[in-house]
Amino acid sequence: MAIRLTKRSMQTLLTASSAAGALMIASVALAETQPPPQIASETPDARAARTVAKMTADEKLSLVRGWFGASIKGAPPPLGAPAPAAALQSAGYVPGVPRLGIPALQETDASLGVANSAWLRPGDQATPLPSALAVAASWNPTVAFNGGAMIGAEAHAKGFNVLLAGGANLAREPRNGRTFEYPGEDPLLSGVMAGEMIRGVQSQHVISTAKHYAANDQETGRMLLNVVMDEKAMRESDLLAFEIALERGKPGAVMCAYNKFAGDYACENAFLLTTVLKHDWRYPGWVMSDWGAAHSTVKAALAGLDQESAHTFDAADFYGPPLKAALASGAAPEARLDDMAHRILRSMFEVGLIEHPAKPGGAIDVAAHANVAAQAEEEGIVLLKNADDLLPLAASAKTIAVIGGHADAGVLSGGGSTQVLAYGGSGREIPVTSGPLAGLMKMIYHPFSPLAAIKAAAPGAAVTFSGGEDVAAAVEAAKHAEVAVVFATQWRAEGQDASLTLDGQQDALIEAVATANPHTIVVLETGGAVLTPWASKVGAIVEAWYPGAEGGRSIARVLFGQVNPSGKLPITFPASLDQLPNPKLPGSDHTYALMYPKGPPFDVHYPEGAAVGYRWYQERGLAPLYPFGFGLSYTHFAYGALKTNGGKNLTVTFTVTNTGRRTGAEVAEVYVQPPGGAYRRLVGFTKVTLKPNETRRVSITAERRLLAGFDTHANHWTIKPGAYAVAVGGSSDQPQLTGQVVLTRSVINP
Ligand code: BGC
Repeated sequence: MAIRLTKRSMQTLLTASSAAGALMIASVALAETQPPPQIASETPDARAARTVAKMTADEKLSLVRGWFGASIKGAPPPLGAPAPAAALQSAGYVPGVPRLGIPALQETDASLGVANSAWLRPGDQATPLPSALAVAASWNPTVAFNGGAMIGAEAHAKGFNVLLAGGANLAREPRNGRTFEYPGEDPLLSGVMAGEMIRGVQSQHVISTAKHYAANDQETGRMLLNVVMDEKAMRESDLLAFEIALERGKPGAVMCAYNKFAGDYACENAFLLTTVLKHDWRYPGWVMSDWGAAHSTVKAALAGLDQESAHTFDAADFYGPPLKAALASGAAPEARLDDMAHRILRSMFEVGLIEHPAKPGGAIDVAAHANVAAQAEEEGIVLLKNADDLLPLAASAKTIAVIGGHADAGVLSGGGSTQVLAYGGSGREIPVTSGPLAGLMKMIYHPFSPLAAIKAAAPGAAVTFSGGEDVAAAVEAAKHAEVAVVFATQWRAEGQDASLTLDGQQDALIEAVATANPHTIVVLETGGAVLTPWASKVGAIVEAWYPGAEGGRSIARVLFGQVNPSGKLPITFPASLDQLPNPKLPGSDHTYALMYPKGPPFDVHYPEGAAVGYRWYQERGLAPLYPFGFGLSYTHFAYGALKTNGGKNLTVTFTVTNTGRRTGAEVAEVYVQPPGGAYRRLVGFTKVTLKPNETRRVSITAERRLLAGFDTHANHWTIKPGAYAVAVGGSSDQPQLTGQVVLTRSVINP
């Protein structure tokens, strides 16, 4: 009631034409220069409603129209166009409403740290987290939360109050160039890890953005492709990952994607933005467009787009004068503009942007933050092979040949908007010379050299290094060493998809070194799955992903056993491209430019539907190279005493025992195959650290939507009555315990 009165009286004031009226407006404006104080126990929504009621139409309009926050010297527009004076040289800027104490939104990328892609802020360094895939490989939600909190703290200390972090796309297409930015192929694991990382970011009073909503699963033709998938499959896979991430993380914003889904661009897709996100999931925050992903004014506004990001990246200034005109003509209702502004403000209030303002120049504990990154890497490294316990290496090793992968300079990182310039600068920068990114990007090695860390871990050893370009020289070095450690890299980046074959002569190099020395260890630094045709010839394979700060040290700690590997694959490694649902990458007949929607549009069909990743392999009876959920340890684990409980919920209890001689951590994974289903689904997991001979009793209650199917007619999840097959173990394809449980029929609202 009070709010309505205030609104009406403000409107009266604003339409007053007398000098007295103008004076009154001036005094109201003056009185409002302080942030709207929070009324005790007021909800973010009530506070937002109170604030929106005080805003002029132009103030609301300015809140829904974002700017590119940087100006790149010498670049053509939009990159080189002047940026708003207050912008901090980063991806995005949205003016605030100083009259009402609403701060500007200073937005920076991204999920792996405060990015400085294209070196927008010369010299501005930050702590790089390992890739999101590495974090997901820890299967430890606390690792994701801590990583999010660390990068959120750095963003805040640098003056940013929005981190464009929280990638939650499924690794449906294993060649996707951005796989390293996302937490893998499973909806539950992805949702939990993305949600925890978002929660961590927002714990620092920095808004996090779940992205790229939705089905943005490949980079080739990303601005033109149309994903064709039936609603049921979409709800049970890509959308479920977002649903879980949003529930856990409560991000202030969601970024809609470049691609089309079911014929409409994601940023003007009423099904995605309104039906699912805002109606079914009751999402209260705002939807921002990806940079260059807005395509209309009225259609987008009615479909649910709340804010056009970096409007100069779009074909027109859609949420500028055209939106004002659409409101004036009634083509877009005023209430929609109020809703847009309300959503943005309520997220700002909820995350605490007013009470905890971000200011540049805050203190950053670089050493502590490097340890957060290192912890993530040490839990995320996956040991894929360890024949005859070749690893861990003895610190007393006498001769070690380190080969390839720029291990002398540092650890690889992925390219694109997530690119962080690490504290200490770049270890090495290699220009990209082919593909759509040629001349636009460099491959950056963060300055945390594995070679230096190996030397430090084995002080008595003669450690040699060969770059790998000269295969004969590398073979010669390997012949004279007790062990050879070959570093192999696969660079992935936003804007182009990847080959699963290691580039250059890396496969031949590994093969030749392994032939010369049976004690060959391969350390992979990859942004996703790769093919390993030499796997049977080498002694050990360690998947280190993109390692982040102190990455060389983390790898050495695993190689020498100070850390017992406990990571599990968040993605399947295929044995060959023929095994993929789309053996040929859709759109790969054409080369698409990075940011422009030019070129032939095309449809992407996903024959696997909801059976993403490991589910597809099971359904088709295919044996992958390494299955989802797989990873070895320097100790062994035994499972026992399975008990299952059915009815409405499915609860599984069992024991895990460390039967080896070292302390280690095991990820216990629970999979369930519904009656009549063709594959098992991950329904729960937990990571337990156990001393030798220690046994822990573990109890896991299944996430119910993973037991159910989505009924598109009734618009809810249905758990069918019947017998569900349960499989428990340390990998998706090797159950240690199996059982059955009977569930009753129940429904779950989305
Ligand atoms: C990316 C987003 C990013 C944005 C701003 C886009 O190209 O897809 O992930 O947040 O740029 O840099």
